[in-house]
Amino acid sequence: MKKPWDGRFKKALDPFIEEFSSSIDVDVKLARYDIQGSIAHIKMLGRANIISKNDAQKILHGLEEILQEASKGKLKYTSADEDIHMAIERMLVEKIGKIGNKLHTARSRNDQIALDERLYLRDEISEVSELIKGLQRVIINIAQKNIDVFIPGLTHMQHAQPVLFSHYLMAYFNMLDRDKGRLKDCFKRVNIMPLGAGAIAGTSFPVEREYVAKLLGFPAITKNSIDTVSDRDFILEFVSCSAILMMHLSRLCEDIIIYSSEEFGYVELDDSICTGSSMMPQKKNPDVAELIRGKTARVYGSLMTLFTLMKSLPLSYNRDMQEDKPALFDAVETVKMCLKAEAKLVANIKLNKKRLENILDKDFSCATEIADYLAKKGMPFRDAHKLVGRIVRYCIDNEKYLRDLTYSEFKTFSNLFSEDILDFISPNSSVKSKSSPGGTCLKNVKAQIEKAKNSLSKEFAQ
Ligand code: ARG
Repeated sequence: MKKPWDGRFKKALDPFIEEFSSSIDVDVKLARYDIQGSIAHIKMLGRANIISKNDAQKILHGLEEILQEASKGKLKYTSADEDIHMAIERMLVEKIGKIGNKLHTARSRNDQIALDERLYLRDEISEVSELIKGLQRVIINIAQKNIDVFIPGLTHMQHAQPVLFSHYLMAYFNMLDRDKGRLKDCFKRVNIMPLGAGAIAGTSFPVEREYVAKLLGFPAITKNSIDTVSDRDFILEFVSCSAILMMHLSRLCEDIIIYSSEEFGYVELDDSICTGSSMMPQKKNPDVAELIRGKTARVYGSLMTLFTLMKSLPLSYNRDMQEDKPALFDAVETVKMCLKAEAKLVANIKLNKKRLENILDKDFSCATEIADYLAKKGMPFRDAHKLVGRIVRYCIDNEKYLRDLTYSEFKTFSNLFSEDILDFISPNSSVKSKSSPGGTCLKNVKAQIEKAKNSLSKEFAQ
């Protein structure tokens, strides 16, 4: 096929190389944005009299028709379309004739692709943020439903101190809040209008970049044409944010996988989100959680692809940069799917309350309470810690748990113990006492959930 750039070429492009260098299959996601960008560009060209108003009007109509067709999924690409920009231009010329060739005045594909990607990412950032909010709502819901259930809080995967399950779950709410914050910040740097940078140097036409920015809803334009066509920081930033987000999702998945195992049995997942084994009839597998954990690797892979792609790349635009799109698109799709799946996963958690009670009855997670008790009575905490360590040792040697000890047994370890020590050794009193700001006591968690609900509904109102 004839190429728009073939003026200086004696020979046609080798067919395999044509196929090799085409990115149209990947680019189709950008069609809508490419056309919207061209619509703004042609309006500007007409307004600034860079081309006649009449020509601009004809091109505009052509583009608007193509946009309509795009929204109905009716665009027809050919294998000879090098990329989305060339494809749309070809469609335009087919539709309105040679006049369509004026569209590319004062523009290069180098600033055009930067625009398409920024327009695309603006939408996707909003979508991802909405999906994060959706997951946060589910978290709040499940936290509220299980507001007063105790679980053993773990550090080093060992029983540490009892905490409220609702408090544990709200930890993830907080992580997701930070993810949204990062995306919001990233959005600021995505939301800058690059068109007008041309291929590298700017353009000799009297373009009105601010006008294009206004039409497309950008609050600012880029400041340096060389930087504009060589910058992919905004994509790296988005995928970095996504990688951190996926890390959070994968940690919650890992918790759920462990907690739903036979050994732990803290939670059970609803049948509707589990699968069985083709061989072992008893199996019920937490595949959704495993898949999200696995898909995290894809997003990290995209991040590494992009870092490697951009490392040491000389200024300014290089064709290498065409490879940014598969990595970006895959990250976007993966993150969106995983956020939806994780919301379903969390919504289908059922706590095994009996089992949790039994587990907390037979562990040492209230040991710190006893040390705190002694420290409050004047014993230096380090000494109290040692003493309680000895009590735990005594229990292990005598096959007892802290709850089994009598007041007189406590007395043999220290005179500071009064009879009320027995009241301190329960998940209930342990959790109740953690009233420091951000601590796990019920009152705190309820307030935390209220605040979370308020902040979410405020965000929705925006
Ligand atoms: N399809 C290209 C990309 O994705 C657009 C820019 C191509 N520019 C060029 N001079 N070949 O990066």
